[in-house]
Amino acid sequence: MAPKFVDMISDIFSKPSKAMREAMANADVGEDPMVLALEAKCAKLLGKEKALLVSTGTMANLLSIMSHCQERGLEVLMGDKSHLYLAEQGHVAQLAGVFPRSVPTLKDGTHDLTTLAETISTSDGNDVCRTKVICLENTHTLCAGSILPLDFLQKLYNLAQENDIKVHVDGARILNAAVGLGVPVSEITKFCDSVTFCLNKGIGAPFGSIVAGTESFIKRVRRCRKALGGEMPQLGMEAAAALYGLDGAEENIRKDHFLTKKLVNGLKNLSSSLVTIEPEEDQTNLVFIKIDKEMSFITNLTERLMTTTEAEVKELGKEIHVGCKLIGKDIRFAICCNINEEDIDDAIKKVCYVFNEIHF
Ligand SMILES: Cc1ncc(COP(=O)(O)O)c(C=O)c1O
Repeated sequence: MAPKFVDMISDIFSKPSKAMREAMANADVGEDPMVLALEAKCAKLLGKEKALLVSTGTMANLLSIMSHCQERGLEVLMGDKSHLYLAEQGHVAQLAGVFPRSVPTLKDGTHDLTTLAETISTSDGNDVCRTKVICLENTHTLCAGSILPLDFLQKLYNLAQENDIKVHVDGARILNAAVGLGVPVSEITKFCDSVTFCLNKGIGAPFGSIVAGTESFIKRVRRCRKALGGEMPQLGMEAAAALYGLDGAEENIRKDHFLTKKLVNGLKNLSSSLVTIEPEEDQTNLVFIKIDKEMSFITNLTERLMTTTEAEVKELGKEIHVGCKLIGKDIRFAICCNINEEDIDDAIKKVCYVFNEIHF
């Protein structure tokens, strides 16, 4: 029998359920009425005038910055631990001609507002870039899926508006933030001018991201999407999957957060002076094991999670493989719609077994 594989490598590998596949098979294609329905539903969900379906979260962020920054000599402020800053190939500089200026990220994914205010450049002088956009990430991936507090968002938005600056939110997992806070998504997104979110994460659609903002902003996003080769007709099946996923999103995400909490609790007894489990509380769908050891040790550990020994099978009663992602020296587990309670029980057993075997 093949080993049981608990795949927590990334929530982008969420797979469409049988019911979602049926919705896709029955989708209306051609003139794309389902895409329009999806965009209208997302605009409403996010409390924005319009929304547009694009292919990926990376493209959604780039299009947003391109559409906010229509002149030369502009800069965008972004957290030094953000996906936009670290994991999108510097596309805002490479393709949009915008200067990305980083600001320090605090442990909870927020930024110190005084530092931010001091970094903003409103000068019309010849020497410096002018700040046009502040970018946030919510939930914050590298801060263990942390949810940005509403009072922080409000203060930051006030600061931006006082300085005639736009706020863009990379909300790849914004639905997780809303479920975590127990508020409608629009209560979070009212503190920004534009927002993106990924359809292939919390809601399990096979692909796609949404950009939302004012009507005139989305008009510019649509033009930029064409220039980047991102216009795709006949996406009815994708839209049908996303519409289906959105209907059950709240319940599914609540389940993901419950399982994440269970995983965090199960891993807690691994904590030592060399091992820290994050987040400590207020989980969304990401769990990090931070290990203070050399890189080769940590790589071996992740490889060991994907193998089994005879002694282990005897003790655990089955072969279990656990997939995770190495981010720097951290081991990350992402919980999405494919994972159930039994998977989490098995993953805890396996990880604890392997860590005990290693003797820190
Ligand atoms: C916070 C965040 N933003 C943006 C993206 C990019 O999304 P995509 O992989 O669809 O380009 C990701 C992907 O994991 C992400 O975690």
